[in-house]
Amino acid sequence: MVISQFDTLKKLHEYYSVNNGCGLKKIATQPVYEIHTPSSGIVFIGEAPGKNEDLEGEPFVGSAGQLLDEMLKDIEFTRKDVYVSNVVKYRPPNNREPSDDEKKSCRVWLNAELLFIKPKVIVPLGRHALERFVQGAKISTCHGLAFSHPSNIPIFAMYHPAAALYNPSLKSVLKDDFIKLKKFLDSGCKIYKVEVIKSKNTDPAKEKAVKDILNL
Ligand code: URA
Repeated sequence: MVISQFDTLKKLHEYYSVNNGCGLKKIATQPVYEIHTPSSGIVFIGEAPGKNEDLEGEPFVGSAGQLLDEMLKDIEFTRKDVYVSNVVKYRPPNNREPSDDEKKSCRVWLNAELLFIKPKVIVPLGRHALERFVQGAKISTCHGLAFSHPSNIPIFAMYHPAAALYNPSLKSVLKDDFIKLKKFLDSGCKIYKVEVIKSKNTDPAKEKAVKDILNL
Protein backbone atom coordinates (compact mmCIF):
# COMPACT_ATOMS: atom_id res chain seq x y z
CA MET A 1 0.00 0.00 0.00
CA VAL A 2 1.38 3.42 -0.97
CA ILE A 3 0.63 6.06 1.63
CA SER A 4 0.42 8.84 -0.99
CA GLN A 5 -2.72 7.22 -2.36
CA PHE A 6 -4.62 8.50 0.68
CA ASP A 7 -5.48 12.17 0.52
CA THR A 8 -7.03 12.24 3.98
CA LEU A 9 -6.40 10.50 7.28
CA LYS A 10 -10.05 9.44 7.28
CA LYS A 11 -9.53 7.44 4.07
CA LEU A 12 -6.34 5.92 5.46
CA HIS A 13 -8.18 4.78 8.59
CA GLU A 14 -11.11 3.45 6.58
CA TYR A 15 -8.71 1.37 4.49
CA TYR A 16 -6.84 -0.10 7.48
CA SER A 17 -10.08 -0.69 9.41
CA VAL A 18 -10.92 -3.23 6.73
CA ASN A 19 -7.38 -4.42 5.97
CA ASN A 20 -6.03 -5.56 9.31
CA GLY A 21 -5.84 -8.97 10.94
CA CYS A 22 -6.41 -7.88 14.54
CA GLY A 23 -8.39 -10.54 16.42
CA LEU A 24 -10.07 -7.83 18.53
CA LYS A 25 -11.93 -6.54 15.49
CA LYS A 26 -14.64 -9.18 15.94
CA ILE A 27 -15.38 -8.29 19.55
CA ALA A 28 -14.81 -4.54 19.74
CA THR A 29 -17.65 -2.10 19.00
CA GLN A 30 -15.55 -0.25 16.42
CA PRO A 31 -11.97 0.81 15.61
CA VAL A 32 -10.75 3.88 17.47
CA TYR A 33 -8.91 6.66 15.66
CA GLU A 34 -8.61 10.40 15.04
CA ILE A 35 -8.95 12.06 11.66
CA HIS A 36 -7.36 15.51 12.01
CA THR A 37 -3.68 16.26 11.36
CA PRO A 38 -1.93 18.01 14.28
CA SER A 39 -0.85 21.64 13.77
CA SER A 40 1.82 21.20 16.47
CA GLY A 41 3.34 18.07 14.89
CA ILE A 42 3.02 16.26 18.25
CA VAL A 43 1.76 12.69 18.13
CA PHE A 44 0.87 10.94 21.41
CA ILE A 45 0.59 7.17 21.28
CA GLY A 46 -1.25 5.22 23.96
CA GLU A 47 -1.78 1.52 24.50
CA ALA A 48 -5.27 0.51 23.40
CA PRO A 49 -8.76 1.99 23.70
CA GLY A 50 -10.84 1.57 26.85
CA LYS A 51 -14.62 1.30 27.28
CA ASN A 52 -15.49 4.94 26.52
CA GLU A 53 -13.20 5.04 23.48
CA ASP A 54 -14.73 1.80 22.18
CA LEU A 55 -18.22 3.31 22.44
CA GLU A 56 -17.31 6.68 20.92
CA GLY A 57 -14.72 5.58 18.34
CA GLU A 58 -12.27 8.27 19.49
CA PRO A 59 -9.05 7.86 21.49
CA PHE A 60 -8.59 9.16 25.03
CA VAL A 61 -12.14 10.38 25.70
CA GLY A 62 -12.36 8.77 29.17
CA SER A 63 -10.65 9.66 32.47
CA ALA A 64 -7.10 9.14 31.11
CA GLY A 65 -8.05 11.50 28.27
CA GLN A 66 -9.27 14.12 30.73
CA LEU A 67 -5.93 14.01 32.51
CA LEU A 68 -4.14 14.25 29.17
CA ASP A 69 -6.21 17.37 28.36
CA GLU A 70 -5.35 18.88 31.74
CA MET A 71 -1.61 18.31 31.16
CA LEU A 72 -1.85 19.75 27.64
CA LYS A 73 -3.60 22.85 28.97
CA ASP A 74 -0.71 23.41 31.39
CA ILE A 75 1.65 23.74 28.42
CA GLU A 76 -0.83 25.82 26.43
CA PHE A 77 -2.00 23.19 23.99
CA THR A 78 -5.44 21.78 23.36
CA ARG A 79 -6.38 18.35 22.01
CA LYS A 80 -7.03 19.95 18.62
CA ASP A 81 -3.34 20.95 18.38
CA VAL A 82 -2.07 17.39 18.81
CA TYR A 83 -2.79 13.96 17.39
CA VAL A 84 -3.55 10.99 19.62
CA SER A 85 -3.37 7.37 18.59
CA ASN A 86 -2.87 3.91 20.06
CA VAL A 87 -0.61 0.92 19.46
CA VAL A 88 -3.75 -1.23 19.14
CA LYS A 89 -6.86 0.24 17.53
CA TYR A 90 -9.50 -1.96 19.21
CA ARG A 91 -10.48 -2.37 22.86
CA PRO A 92 -9.09 -5.53 24.49
CA PRO A 93 -11.84 -7.20 26.59
CA ASN A 94 -12.02 -6.14 30.25
CA ASN A 95 -9.26 -3.61 29.58
CA ARG A 96 -6.59 -6.31 29.63
CA GLU A 97 -3.20 -5.44 28.14
CA PRO A 98 -2.91 -5.94 24.38
CA SER A 99 -1.15 -9.16 23.34
CA ASP A 100 1.95 -9.32 21.13
CA ASP A 101 -0.23 -10.61 18.26
CA GLU A 102 -2.67 -7.72 18.62
CA LYS A 103 0.18 -5.20 18.68
CA LYS A 104 1.76 -6.84 15.65
CA SER A 105 -1.44 -6.86 13.62
CA CYS A 106 -2.02 -3.13 14.19
CA ARG A 107 1.61 -2.21 13.53
CA VAL A 108 1.32 -1.41 9.82
CA TRP A 109 -1.73 0.76 10.52
CA LEU A 110 0.21 2.88 13.04
CA ASN A 111 3.19 3.06 10.65
CA ALA A 112 0.87 4.30 7.92
CA GLU A 113 -0.54 7.03 10.19
CA LEU A 114 2.97 8.18 11.07
CA LEU A 115 4.03 8.20 7.43
CA PHE A 116 0.98 10.29 6.59
CA ILE A 117 1.35 12.78 9.47
CA LYS A 118 5.17 13.14 9.47
CA PRO A 119 5.31 14.06 13.18
CA LYS A 120 7.77 16.53 14.66
CA VAL A 121 7.93 14.41 17.80
CA ILE A 122 6.39 11.11 18.84
CA VAL A 123 5.36 10.82 22.49
CA PRO A 124 4.79 7.20 23.53
CA LEU A 125 2.57 7.05 26.60
CA GLY A 126 3.57 4.09 28.75
CA ARG A 127 5.39 0.83 28.28
CA HIS A 128 3.64 -0.67 25.26
CA ALA A 129 4.10 2.40 23.09
CA LEU A 130 7.65 3.05 24.30
CA GLU A 131 8.78 -0.51 23.47
CA ARG A 132 7.39 0.00 19.99
CA PHE A 133 9.98 2.73 19.30
CA VAL A 134 12.84 2.19 21.74
CA GLN A 135 13.68 -1.44 22.26
CA GLY A 136 14.49 -2.47 25.79
CA ALA A 137 13.62 0.95 27.26
CA LYS A 138 11.96 0.97 30.69
CA ILE A 139 9.34 3.63 31.27
CA SER A 140 10.36 4.11 34.92
CA THR A 141 13.86 5.21 33.93
CA CYS A 142 13.15 6.72 30.49
CA HIS A 143 10.16 9.01 31.10
CA GLY A 144 10.91 12.68 30.46
CA LEU A 145 13.80 11.82 28.14
CA ALA A 146 14.16 12.18 24.39
CA PHE A 147 15.48 9.30 22.33
CA SER A 148 16.86 9.39 18.85
CA HIS A 149 15.24 7.11 16.31
CA PRO A 150 16.55 6.01 12.89
CA SER A 151 13.65 7.89 11.27
CA ASN A 152 15.12 11.12 12.72
CA ILE A 153 11.81 11.69 14.50
CA PRO A 154 12.63 12.16 18.19
CA ILE A 155 10.83 9.93 20.66
CA PHE A 156 9.91 11.63 23.96
CA ALA A 157 8.95 9.05 26.59
CA MET A 158 6.15 9.65 29.10
CA TYR A 159 4.14 7.69 31.62
CA HIS A 160 0.64 6.75 30.51
CA PRO A 161 -1.89 9.16 32.11
CA ALA A 162 -3.79 6.11 33.44
CA ALA A 163 -0.70 5.26 35.53
CA ALA A 164 -1.08 8.64 37.27
CA LEU A 165 -4.76 7.89 37.91
CA TYR A 166 -3.88 4.61 39.63
CA ASN A 167 -0.86 6.08 41.41
CA PRO A 168 -1.51 9.79 42.21
CA SER A 169 2.15 10.39 43.13
CA LEU A 170 2.94 10.02 39.41
CA LYS A 171 0.76 13.03 38.56
CA SER A 172 3.48 15.56 39.44
CA VAL A 173 6.03 13.44 37.53
CA LEU A 174 3.78 13.53 34.46
CA LYS A 175 3.25 17.28 34.87
CA ASP A 176 7.03 17.85 34.99
CA ASP A 177 7.49 15.68 31.92
CA PHE A 178 4.96 17.79 29.99
CA ILE A 179 6.97 20.89 30.90
CA LYS A 180 10.13 19.13 29.65
CA LEU A 181 8.30 18.24 26.44
CA LYS A 182 7.36 21.91 25.95
CA LYS A 183 10.99 22.99 26.44
CA PHE A 184 12.08 20.31 24.01
CA LEU A 185 9.64 21.63 21.40
CA ASP A 186 10.53 25.27 22.07
CA SER A 187 14.18 24.42 21.51
CA GLY A 188 13.25 23.12 18.06
CA CYS A 189 13.50 19.55 19.32
CA LYS A 190 17.16 20.13 20.00
CA ILE A 191 18.29 18.27 23.02
CA TYR A 192 17.69 20.46 26.07
CA LYS A 193 18.66 18.88 29.35
CA VAL A 194 17.32 15.60 28.11
CA GLU A 195 19.28 12.54 27.32
CA VAL A 196 19.52 10.89 23.95
CA ILE A 197 19.99 7.18 23.77
CA LYS A 198 20.33 5.54 20.41
CA SER A 199 17.70 2.86 19.96
CA LYS A 200 18.80 -0.50 18.61
CA ASN A 201 16.86 -2.25 15.91
CA THR A 202 18.05 -5.76 15.39
CA ASP A 203 14.86 -7.61 14.58
CA PRO A 204 14.32 -7.73 10.74
CA ALA A 205 10.59 -6.92 11.13
CA LYS A 206 11.50 -3.87 13.20
CA GLU A 207 14.18 -2.85 10.70
CA LYS A 208 11.57 -3.03 7.94
CA ALA A 209 9.19 -0.82 9.95
CA VAL A 210 12.01 1.65 10.53
CA LYS A 211 12.79 1.68 6.81
CA ASP A 212 9.14 2.47 6.12
CA ILE A 213 9.36 5.43 8.47
CA LEU A 214 12.66 6.48 6.88
CA ASN A 215 10.77 6.91 3.62
CA LEU A 216 8.96 9.91 5.11
N1 URA B 1 -5.87 4.41 27.21
C1 URA B 1 -5.20 4.25 26.05
O1 URA B 1 -4.10 3.73 26.01
N2 URA B 1 -5.79 4.65 24.95
C2 URA B 1 -6.98 5.25 24.91
O2 URA B 1 -7.44 5.61 23.84
C3 URA B 1 -7.64 5.41 26.14
C4 URA B 1 -7.08 5.00 27.28
